[in-house]
Amino acid sequence: MFQPATTTEPDRHAESRDIWNLNAHFWIEHFGAEGNDFHRVLVAPAAERLLALKGGEHVLEVSCGSGLFARRIIDLGAESVVAFDYSKVFVDEARKRNEGYEDKIEFLVLDATDEQAMVRELMPRSGKKGFDKALSNMAIMDISDITPLFRALRTLLNPGAQFIATLMHPAFNHPDSVRGVEQFDLPNGETVKRTYIKAHEYLGARPVKGIGIPGQAHAHWYFPRSLHDIFNIAFGAGFVVDGFEEAAWNREEGEEKNLTPSWKDMTKLPPVVAIRFRVL
Ligand SMILES: C[S@@+](CC[C@H](N)C(=O)[O-])C[C@H]1O[C@@H](n2cnc3c(N)ncnc32)[C@H](O)[C@@H]1O
Repeated sequence: MFQPATTTEPDRHAESRDIWNLNAHFWIEHFGAEGNDFHRVLVAPAAERLLALKGGEHVLEVSCGSGLFARRIIDLGAESVVAFDYSKVFVDEARKRNEGYEDKIEFLVLDATDEQAMVRELMPRSGKKGFDKALSNMAIMDISDITPLFRALRTLLNPGAQFIATLMHPAFNHPDSVRGVEQFDLPNGETVKRTYIKAHEYLGARPVKGIGIPGQAHAHWYFPRSLHDIFNIAFGAGFVVDGFEEAAWNREEGEEKNLTPSWKDMTKLPPVVAIRFRVL
């Protein structure tokens, strides 16, 4: 499902945005009004736990797609959300879906790799003390360079504020890792079936193209990074980590015999991590 990188860095960044614009309608259709099961079961619960909204917060959402989670943040009690994405098609769709939230959510087209533009556009919208929280769902591995984002967030967030990021687990859910099921017999005659991940590139992984939702017409760019790469970029920008979750599916007891190489059957291999960074 993946293609190795062939283009150069600036080409890849521009191509990546073009591909998100091309895929946006397909993604929105397949994501559904409430989010797909990946979102509902793994991503949103972890994001909400780490976000721990108390009510009244001013929140920044990075790479918001069609705005589903921005609306959820308001429903959870936040006062206001500024949400951005570099795909104009996604932002146009988010604005169309904003009925009832017009006074609470503002959607912008902005590039998370452009520190100057983020500070210029978001600083006047950050409130007197800066944003109280920031969040990004399932986008860190899609952003070609995350150093400008952490640097901008350091400027835009209120002292002590947190940035929560959910992303594909860099160790297990790499675009070119292989999922499988193996079966073997024990000396006592029992047959064991179990799922596994075969990974061959975690450290120093290169950008690759892959599919996020089966059936999407255009493979998009992934920019995989190890956890220590992500952490060190955040530490270098003045953040610490104060929350961390690894999310996997739960399966009903007794279904072991029908294992498939789907994430839903990989109850011990988490496809999603949720990290909470805090401004020092
Ligand atoms: C997998 S989608 C997730 C969308 C949304 N957060 C959700 O959970 O449905 C990844 C998103 O990252 C956005 N993205 C990728 N690179 C970006 C960048 N440099 N700046 C802003 N958004 C970016 C894409 O346009 C896309 O909307």
